Parts: sequence; structure tokens; C-alpha cells
Amino acid sequence: MMQLPNYKEAKLRNKESIVREEYQLDQNLSKIGQGKTYHVKTYGCQMNEHDSENIKAMLEELGFTEEENYEQADLVLLNTCSIRENAHNKAFGMLGRLKHLKEERKDLMIGLCGCMAQEEGVIDEILHKYQFVNFVFGTHNLYRLPILLDQNMKSQHQEIEVYSKEGNLIEGLPVKRASLYKAYVNIIYGCDKFCTYCIVPYTRGKQRSRAQEDILREVNSLIQEGYQEVTLLGQNVNAYGKDFDYDYRMENLLEDVAKTGIPRVRFMTSHPWDFTDKMIEVIAKYPNIMPSIHLPVQSGSNRILKLMGRRYTKESYLELFYKIKSTIPNVSVSTDIIVGFPGETEEDFLETVSLVEECKFDNAFTFIYSPRENTPAAKLEDHISLEEKEKRLHRLNEIVNKYFLENNQKWVGKIVPVLVEGKNTNGKDGLYGYTDTNKLINFPGSESLTGKIILVRVCEAKTWSLDGEVCE
Ligand code: 5AD
Ligand code: SF4
Repeated sequence: MMQLPNYKEAKLRNKESIVREEYQLDQNLSKIGQGKTYHVKTYGCQMNEHDSENIKAMLEELGFTEEENYEQADLVLLNTCSIRENAHNKAFGMLGRLKHLKEERKDLMIGLCGCMAQEEGVIDEILHKYQFVNFVFGTHNLYRLPILLDQNMKSQHQEIEVYSKEGNLIEGLPVKRASLYKAYVNIIYGCDKFCTYCIVPYTRGKQRSRAQEDILREVNSLIQEGYQEVTLLGQNVNAYGKDFDYDYRMENLLEDVAKTGIPRVRFMTSHPWDFTDKMIEVIAKYPNIMPSIHLPVQSGSNRILKLMGRRYTKESYLELFYKIKSTIPNVSVSTDIIVGFPGETEEDFLETVSLVEECKFDNAFTFIYSPRENTPAAKLEDHISLEEKEKRLHRLNEIVNKYFLENNQKWVGKIVPVLVEGKNTNGKDGLYGYTDTNKLINFPGSESLTGKIILVRVCEAKTWSLDGEVCE
């Protein structure tokens, strides 16, 4: 069966209301994976990581077991990302390796899902050059995985099923969480912002909020299971509730989630446009909403911000930034920045630098602009060489790094709450965890502290982490 992606349909935003539907496994399929193993490779954002948690649990309900080494697995599934070209290249590189593996092991099953599956160009390539891929599904029909797998196992024909129009809102998918202490909770799917560089509104569809009852039920059951932290997820969490026909928005949800008593609440990502004063007040009021905000700015040049379709100016971003800083005590603010947007001049770039020097972000993810298929920005003329873009990225990184260190140094000598995540994986002895302000901290201690929130004294600051000691 074939159902291919279509950008025209993916771009549509209609007023049709979204129907809630409960996931149900067809019991006839519950043994199709018995005796077989799977490996899921995840690229991209937390949204994808969380989708993979659902995918893994669905596969286990079919009888599959997880295999750490993809070369040994009976089924390899790539959960892909479209955001920049290098994410694309990584997935295609992996497909190349899997092709060789399949030449040796004819019964290897290969699947592809996630954002790349929503791209017309990618599916075209898979149909013509990657016929060894067994099945493909998109971001709107994760729950169809058992059916597609079953069909492919029976027919041996490539199954491609990608919906461009988002379907029902599926509740009750099983989940195999990566952590016992921190959990992702989806609150809103899709995005209606259509920033001109971004492919997400096409790959993830229109904005759809989950009902607050479903979200609160999930958080309450996580508390019962002993979870210490939830991260409320969405491409643009601040738009939560805007698609409801009643008045319940992000500030209401944040407050209700905080009132469940879960020790830590985080949320990401926030678009500055939808960040309300009420949200800031709620974050400041509840000690279990972590004082750490990811607020992508993308550029400091008003000319470029306009071309990006970001709907704010450098001045209005700064106004919001200062409101957040002055209302939420000790808040840390991180950001995303794109350099080399089509036509970005040295003057535009220097505007970004001056904004960074003013905001002194606690953390920043910096990227070179990558043209994405079908987005408006990809059609803009661009005379700036890649070499120049790389130089700008390098210059910007030097500056942001300086401020990471400066911010970290302010914590030396202070005592901070840390959720301990476990033993260091970087070869050093000891434990690691994250502070309330989302800083990575390493410290000596017993593994029995894992999963607890403890007090740690900061002893030393580095650019990307802190060193500390447990307070007795
Ligand atoms: N090129 C480079 N970076 C991009 N991002 C989104 N789209 C692109 C693109 N086409 C960055 C933005 C966003 C982050 C998740 O990825 O900074 O906030
Ligand atoms: Fe990548 Fe965006 Fe899709 Fe996340 S939503 S996987 S960042 S393209």
C-alpha cells in the first residue's frame, strides 16, 4: 500500500476540530515479533526521542525485544529529523550501511519514520533508490506501526504510509521511557508559526493541543511511579490551548501541573511571540517550575527577523527577556541562533553579536542556516559563501562560550538543588545531574543517590559544566 506525502496538504490549516482517539492494539498482532529483536535509532529533538519511547513500547507489545547493537537486530527503525541538512545526511548514511547489512542478511527488516518521512523528496528517493527499505510511516501515524509491520511481513512489499493531513489525536500509546526519574510529556503537536526557514510546520502539521485532563492524568501517574521531573513538550508550547474553544492556556496548564506536586516541571520550546506575562507570573510563583527558559531568538537583526517571519523585533525580544529576568529569581535563559540566513550581511551579524553581548545567555545552540525543501527561505537569493558563514559561526561561538563560563562562575560557592541522574559516563568517577537552572554538574558521591534531588555545593565552573560536592 502507498500513501505519499504532499506539501500542499501539509500546509493547509483548517478549523476542523481534532478527534481524540484511544490507541488499541489488535490482539491478533501481539505475537508477530516473538523471538525477534529491534533497534531504534533516533535523530533530532526531544519530540522525536519521546516518539521513539512510544515506538519501542509498541514493538515490545508485539513481542520484539530491544537489541543494543543495530548490526544484530532483526528490525532496524530510523526515527529521522529534517531540521538541517546534516540530520538528513546522517540518516541517509545510515541507510547506506543498512543496505550492506541487508545484502548479508536478507531477512533484515528496515523501517523509516519521523520528520523525513513527511518530505516529498525523501520519499521519492526511497521509492527509487532505497527499495530495500521495508516500510515507512510518518509523524501523524505512529500508531499504525503494528499494522504496517504486519502487512510488510506478509506481503514482502514496501509499505509507505505517510499522512500529510494530521489525523486524530491518539491517546494511550504505550511508552518505554528512557529514564526512571525524568519524563517527557507531550502537550501540543505541530506548529502554525511558519518561520520561513523551518520545515517543522510541514512535517508536524497544524497545532493541536492535548486535553488538560489527559496531560494531568499522565503527570499524576508519573508521580505514582516515582518520577521527579516532567518536561512538557511541544514545538511551541506557549501556543498551548490556542486551538481550544474554551479559555485554558499555557499559564493554566503550567499552574495545574505545578499543583500536582511533581518536584520539577520544565517545558520546551517557547516561541517569544506567545510568551505571556501570566506565564511569567506562574513560573515565578511555583518553586517546582524550574527557573530555566529556552527562548530561541534566531537573530538580532530586525531586517533578518522580518525575513525569517519571527513576528518580533530585537527590542521586543529584549523587553520580554528583561521581564523574565526581573520576575523569576535566578532564572537561566538559553537560546537558539541561526547564522548565515540568506542575505545576512556583516552588519546584520553584528546585531546578533550585540544582542548576545547584552543577554549573556546561559546556553545557546548555534547553527548555520540550512535551506530546507519547500520552505519560503529556500527560494531567497543567497550570495554569502559557506566559508564566510562558518567564520561567523566560529566568531559567535567564541562569544557565547565566554558567557557560558561567566554565568557558571557566578554559581561557585553556592548551594544548588540537583536531580542526580547516575554515574558519570565521561570516564571520570562520580555522579552527574542537573541543577534547577539546567546546568550539568559533576560531583563525587554514592550511586545510591541516583534519582534523588539533593543539595550540592558548586566548587568549580567550566564552560559547559560545573563541579561540585554533596552537602552533608
Ligand atoms: N537551518 C538552520 N537551523 C535551523 N533551525 C530550524 N530550522 C533551521 C534551518 N533551516 C534551528 C532553529 C531552531 C532550532 C531547533 O533549529 O534555531 O530553533
Ligand atoms: Fe527535527 Fe524538527 Fe522534526 Fe524535531 S520536529 S525531529 S527538530 S525536524
